Amino acid sequence: DAAALQAYLDTAVALAREVGPAFTDGFRRTGRFAASSAFAAEAKLGNEADCVTAVDRYIEEQLFARLRKVYPTHRFVGEETTAESGDDYAVTDDPTWVVDPVDGTNNFVHHLPYTGISIGLAINREPVVGVVYLPVLDELYTAARGLGAHLNGAPLPIVRPPALTSPTALSQCSLIAEHGSARSAAVLESRLGSFKRLLLDKEHGGACLQNLRVMGSAAYDLTLVARGAADMYWECGPHAWDFAAGAVILREAGGALFDGAGWWGADVPEHERRPRPFDMWRRKLLAIRHIPDLPGKPGSGRALQKQLAAELLAVVQDVPYPP
Ligand code: IPD
Repeated sequence: DAAALQAYLDTAVALAREVGPAFTDGFRRTGRFAASSAFAAEAKLGNEADCVTAVDRYIEEQLFARLRKVYPTHRFVGEETTAESGDDYAVTDDPTWVVDPVDGTNNFVHHLPYTGISIGLAINREPVVGVVYLPVLDELYTAARGLGAHLNGAPLPIVRPPALTSPTALSQCSLIAEHGSARSAAVLESRLGSFKRLLLDKEHGGACLQNLRVMGSAAYDLTLVARGAADMYWECGPHAWDFAAGAVILREAGGALFDGAGWWGADVPEHERRPRPFDMWRRKLLAIRHIPDLPGKPGSGRALQKQLAAELLAVVQDVPYPP
């Protein structure tokens, strides 16, 4: 119920704020090449573009230790715990905290402030509480199911009609996408090829997007769509810990998410959710912001969300998703 969700949200906010100073301090001290320093970035699985720092591990430990004290029966999935143990995390209906202690680690080690702490809570496999905190920018995004989404206490989306328009074609949209950390020729050819088709002019068969941005943090990407600073976010291969919290924030800001098979969003009618609800354990994600109805056309905002998503998916359909 609402009171329980509010209590979970309050806990997550308090914890995010509590570890914020460690995040900011680590951001200042982390050195990419300082191999001997406790604050050096380490390559994961030998890939220097996919890195981890002592700050990632410290913050995840702190968050889980504190959450376990308050909610001893809950389950916990964290980027560092799960990725480093190599364990398959069991997905159950139990309340599960899904945490990325430093989303956008690559930005973090390059001192680019688009990086933050992502704390999500899923119940019955569905994300219901989300906190994305960017300590360096001091942006705190919060949401709980049915209770709205906020940035530092102000309701989302920040951009409102008439400034928040209703695009009627993909060529009127701005998109955030990510190229990810894979550096193999095959992956890059396909991903960068899709970027080119999205940007290319229409005479040459492109979608002629107004812009395409790579911000480097899936959690932040979702908050940008939620606040109305981008129309869509699309990525092949993010993990649940990257987007569980951001998904709730976007949903509560009137946005919708498509996981490759089903839609998820407060305004998504039941029949469009088939064959099943949004599955955050799948690594497919297309997110679209709230689109206001066109004047005199109730339901047109939702129809536009679907139309624009279909246009986007048609352009990127050959980009392989991870299993
Ligand atoms: C990554 C970032 C990146 C996205 C990747 C994520 P990490 O998270 O969110 O933008 O493209 O899919 O894995 O590794 O920095 O926590």
